[in-house]
Amino acid sequence: GILAAGAVGVVGAGYVGLATATGFCHLGHRVVAVDRDTTRIDRLRSGHSDLTEPGLDSVLQSGLDSGRLTLSTDFAELSRCEAVFICVPTPVDGAGHSDLSAVFDVIGKLIRIGGDICIVVIKSTVPVGTASRAERLLRPSAMAVVSNPEFLRESHIVTDFLDPDRIVIGDSDRVAGDRIAALYRGIEAPLERVSLESAELAKHASNAFLATKLSFVNELAALCERTGADIREVTAAMAHDHRIGEAFLSPGPGWGGSCLPKDARALLHSGREAGIELGVLDAAVAANTGATGRVIDTVRRGVTGSAQGNLHGRRIALLGLAFKAGTGDLRFSPALDICRSLIDEGATVAAYDPAIPQPVAGLPDEMELVDDPLLAAKDAAAVIVATEWPEFTELDWAAIADVADDPVVIDTRTFLDPGQLSRCGIRLYSNGIAPTG
Ligand code: UGA
Repeated sequence: GILAAGAVGVVGAGYVGLATATGFCHLGHRVVAVDRDTTRIDRLRSGHSDLTEPGLDSVLQSGLDSGRLTLSTDFAELSRCEAVFICVPTPVDGAGHSDLSAVFDVIGKLIRIGGDICIVVIKSTVPVGTASRAERLLRPSAMAVVSNPEFLRESHIVTDFLDPDRIVIGDSDRVAGDRIAALYRGIEAPLERVSLESAELAKHASNAFLATKLSFVNELAALCERTGADIREVTAAMAHDHRIGEAFLSPGPGWGGSCLPKDARALLHSGREAGIELGVLDAAVAANTGATGRVIDTVRRGVTGSAQGNLHGRRIALLGLAFKAGTGDLRFSPALDICRSLIDEGATVAAYDPAIPQPVAGLPDEMELVDDPLLAAKDAAAVIVATEWPEFTELDWAAIADVADDPVVIDTRTFLDPGQLSRCGIRLYSNGIAPTG
């Protein structure tokens, strides 16, 4: 590669940093990945990422076997890298303000290390204007800044890095941008060469647009229920229009995870700072806040016959806790909001998630975690399916109907087979489908 003389540096060995480090290594580059967490680096050196990411441990192992991947807690090792990718967290508070201290700490360290470093690449998600701020700090050390946002979906990070929809490279120094673009040689994907500001906004805008699409679909699902339409039929008809596309049209209990909610808030914050009202996004965020309430109303209707009914003392089963299938990640999971609301109403909640066999941090104290869906459903007045785990379509619903108490099932993801459940004597409420009977 064009950086053959030096190695590629990566700071931060979380989802983004690991995908970047192992991905560049897979493309043939020498990579130095640094994280200050000793335990994490030790585990990684033994070939274990501890992330539920298909393919990650295998690219990690082949990186280690090739001798091209160095994992270290020593930042000074980065001095032999020409380009360093910053992949550290940028948490966003409730007001949408991004905490960029980790990014600027790293930049300060890179300035002090110096050595071969000539390009600092910001891969962490940051608000527009961050890269140009970094550029001013780095100018005296003659280091260039490139913005190269990531678009990795959790539980797909390896394939999304190696087979992305696009690669976005923002720069104000064409040569620096060229050198970063060259690192991706071997990957077949459209390359967008843009300004620093455009690259930063493209990341926030992509996630905020997806969030908006989902809020729209979720409100449409409510309308379908009221009018006798079926959200699956409506979205299937919409999806044939290539301008709309088929992805991100499935209704759910609200969008969550560590990225969409945080990026939507951060973009609203950028809008306020710039004096630009992002009213559409504002409404999309507000609609998502109401999504939990809509699920609870459905539970009340199913269990008590009225949306005003009382769930005090009722047992409710919650199937799925993760914010989406394929991960055990609980960050900003709508399932937890549902759980907390139920507990606040005095209901008892027993939950099962195939990716969370044991209690972990972040679960409400009052919630009972079980390791079998049948245990969760025992004596339950309602079974809420909050995560679209494929295995839930293959559950023994007849057995669930048996152990539960005249159960109503609330399918927030509209992916269970209504015929199968009704044959088991289960009353089913599917999100976006008018209840029959
Ligand atoms: C998201 C983006 O999809 C990635 O492109 C981006 O790189 C990443 O954030 C990030 O910024 O790092 P992720 O957080 O893994 O990825 O989650 P998604 O797969 O996008 O799902 C987000 C939420 O939308 C989940 O709660 C999911 O259940 C929900 N969703 C998604 C639906 O309710 N319906 C759908 O049709 C699709």
